[in-house]
Amino acid sequence: MPNIVVIGAQWGDEGKGKVIDILAEKSDYIVRFQGGNNAGHTVVVKNRKFILHLIPSGILHKNKKCVIGNGVVVDPEALISEIKKLRSEGIEVNSGNFFIDERAHVILPYHKILDSLKEKKKGKAKIGTTRRGIGPCYTDKAARCGIRMIDLIDKELFKSKLEANLKEKNRVFRKTYNAKGFKFSEVYSQYLKYAKTIKPYVKNCAVILNEAINKGKSVLLEGAQGTLLDVDFGTYPYVTSSNASVGGAFTGSGIGPTKIDKVIGVVKAYTTRVGEGPLPTEFPPDILEKIRNKGEEFGATTGRPRRCGWFDAVVARQAALVNGLNNIVVTKLDVLDELKNIKICTGYRYKGKVYRILPADTGILDSCSPIYENHKGWLKETGSATKFSDLPKEAKNYLDRISELLGVSIYMVSVGSKRSQILKGR
Ligand code: GDP
Ligand code: IMO
Ligand code: MG
Repeated sequence: MPNIVVIGAQWGDEGKGKVIDILAEKSDYIVRFQGGNNAGHTVVVKNRKFILHLIPSGILHKNKKCVIGNGVVVDPEALISEIKKLRSEGIEVNSGNFFIDERAHVILPYHKILDSLKEKKKGKAKIGTTRRGIGPCYTDKAARCGIRMIDLIDKELFKSKLEANLKEKNRVFRKTYNAKGFKFSEVYSQYLKYAKTIKPYVKNCAVILNEAINKGKSVLLEGAQGTLLDVDFGTYPYVTSSNASVGGAFTGSGIGPTKIDKVIGVVKAYTTRVGEGPLPTEFPPDILEKIRNKGEEFGATTGRPRRCGWFDAVVARQAALVNGLNNIVVTKLDVLDELKNIKICTGYRYKGKVYRILPADTGILDSCSPIYENHKGWLKETGSATKFSDLPKEAKNYLDRISELLGVSIYMVSVGSKRSQILKGR
């Protein structure tokens, strides 16, 4: 099996969990490289639904090694409860099949509270974050005051870093937000307990992964969020705080780009996003309800209803470009089965100008008029198809057009949430 990076090619929730679960069968190591428990990756196995937030979606397969790379921000409380939940469902998570990189940064209680306070303060201009403390934790990482796994498991080092951080943070809580702040002793003792639980998993994963690759083992890198939420290439500032595009896979795992054979983008057959920010192709209310219900478009992490719209080729082309995608996997084709007419957005019109490439100015995305082409719906059920050729002609045309607009060939098509509902591309 080649070494593969799987990237979300829209605003997240494209079905990366399902794709990872399928590809994991033939991979040895599955690695998360950015984001944190803002992610919610759903895998359905024999009618059992698993939602992974931090642990790679490969964990549901036996005899796979799963890694949280250095680029991930880890909330120990969330991680421990995820491990417990998986174990209670009969999934094995132990120090032999699960590792956390010693350089991964730790989310502390003040990050979570700061996330909420910052959002509240922004009022209407809020980002609509998951309030998991992701942004504030990456802020500390860049500001060089973050606390890493290696620091957390060293009592004395953790003590001095936490003291220094709390001194500064508590001042901000009081002065900027008129909020209480945190007591050192409480956070310290709580996190020492977490550290004890987590310590057996903390390793130098960059070394482990490179040694494995050198021995011929294969690695599957599991992106979280999506390219349009990438802090550099997304719809800034309505983005997350990490590189969800392919660069993050290298900086967030310690695996070099020369070791990667393939970059696969996951696209939904339509578009969704959770939280604030532009969504040029947003559906009118009647179609929205239909698709949201059929596609079960409610956030896997926060339960918020997802905003939904037509497939936006400008957005997906941005992902093809900045990730150098070799292939795409198109998911949730079945959700469009009952639509008589389907639209694809091929460009934006704004103040008399046509944009075929995603503009960096988020204001343009807010106010532009999407340019649509119309496609005939197939009005047939696709969920039971077992090969591409089983699909109705109109569905094949729709997929071919998406592939053509992105200039990327289709690797697989997903027609339902189950493992079996996957078709090889043409
Ligand atoms: P991720 O964050 O990219 O892993 O995606 P999520 O798990 O947040 O959201 C994708 C949702 O779509 C989950 O509920 C999946 O079970 C479901 N899903 C994945 N592929 C398909 C598909 O082809 N058809 C349908 N109907 N549902 C799918
Ligand atoms: P997966 O991996 C969809 C969105 C939030 C918000 C913005 C910033 O399941 O695809 P953050 O908490 O990261 O600071 O929030 O990013 N967001 C996601 N949207 N899927 C995700 O992950 C997301 N992770 C963050 O809704 O708009
Ligand atoms: Mg998700």
